[in-house]
Amino acid sequence: MPLLEVENVVKTFRRGGGPAVRAVDDVSFSIEAGQTMTLIGESGSGKSTVARIVLGLERPDSGRVVFDGQDLTAMSPRDLRAKRSTLTAVFQEPYESLNPRMKVESIVGEPLKLFDRTLSKAARRDRVVASLEEVGLGAGILRRYPGDLSGGQQQRLGIARALILSPRLIVLDEPTSSLDLTVRATILTLLKELQLRHSLTYLFISHDIATVRYFSTNTGVMYLGRFVERGPTEEIIDDPRHPYSVALLSSTLSTDPGEMKPARPLTGDAPSPTTRFPGCPLVGRCPVQVDECATRPVPMTSITPTRSAACIRVRPGTAGPERNEAPS
Ligand SMILES: Nc1ncnc2c1ncn2[C@@H]1O[C@H](COP(=O)(O)OP(=O)(O)O)[C@@H](O)[C@H]1O
Ligand code: SF4
Ligand SMILES: [Mg+2]
Repeated sequence: MPLLEVENVVKTFRRGGGPAVRAVDDVSFSIEAGQTMTLIGESGSGKSTVARIVLGLERPDSGRVVFDGQDLTAMSPRDLRAKRSTLTAVFQEPYESLNPRMKVESIVGEPLKLFDRTLSKAARRDRVVASLEEVGLGAGILRRYPGDLSGGQQQRLGIARALILSPRLIVLDEPTSSLDLTVRATILTLLKELQLRHSLTYLFISHDIATVRYFSTNTGVMYLGRFVERGPTEEIIDDPRHPYSVALLSSTLSTDPGEMKPARPLTGDAPSPTTRFPGCPLVGRCPVQVDECATRPVPMTSITPTRSAACIRVRPGTAGPERNEAPS
């Protein structure tokens, strides 16, 4: 049984009396214990909203989040809080997610204070030190403030805090995108080591495709709140089949400035997130679209036993929308 199952989750936001933004539109995936699922997609595609729903920080309008056999979406806020001890997060901006007026000892120890009130102060400090050592920081910084630390140390602190309750699943929402390249590599290595040591399960969000390949078992590509493609990470990166994945991956993968243009770029800008599409949401931007794309709904459909895509031109078992040839 997977550790986490996200089933047909929908989340709509409405600002004032304006039109609704379908931030997450019928998203489903599951993660086996000890594995990593990655979400990729342009900014605004709904990745963080999925993460916040998994964490119980947002309630979905419909759909279920089943964690360790229990339906989180049906739980009372009190039970959900208790469950949150095994489900934690590391966010993009370490400094913003750490209270600048709290010392390191209080920051890392705070979840323990909330979830294990029986622990003495000395025992709590021991656990804090052990957690700091796990992430390569020592007891020497217990009385320091986040502002005294470098960006990399701050993110290690965020990880120490996430680890202190011995979670089973950690949501990593762009955990390294605010860091320098070299620091980024050390944090990723640390996260990988911790995963192996503690059999951690990760839901990982990243823009950095090299990292995604190194880090994750399965990947879901998101566009305007929907999954457009999902499957084993290596297959998605090496052989993307959905026209959106092809454009996204070819534009981010190339390191040769002469080749920065994707082979099959999308045209135009992303539409407003309030736009509703009776057919495929890529209509108007897709280089291989045909007339029926505008009207025919495109649910996620299996194309191999482990892969799905939402495109009427990706046929089961074939290699892409007729290998992304232009329609004849
Ligand atoms: N609290 C909110 N209120 C209104 N709109 C929101 C809120 N959170 C997210 N959105 C909207 O939902 C969409 C998805 O956002 P988000 O999940 O943050 O995407 P990503 O993490 O992929 O950049 C965006 O259009 C965003 O503006
Ligand atoms: S359904 Fe049509 S518009 Fe959508 S990605 Fe496939 S070919 Fe392009
Ligand atoms: Mg985000």
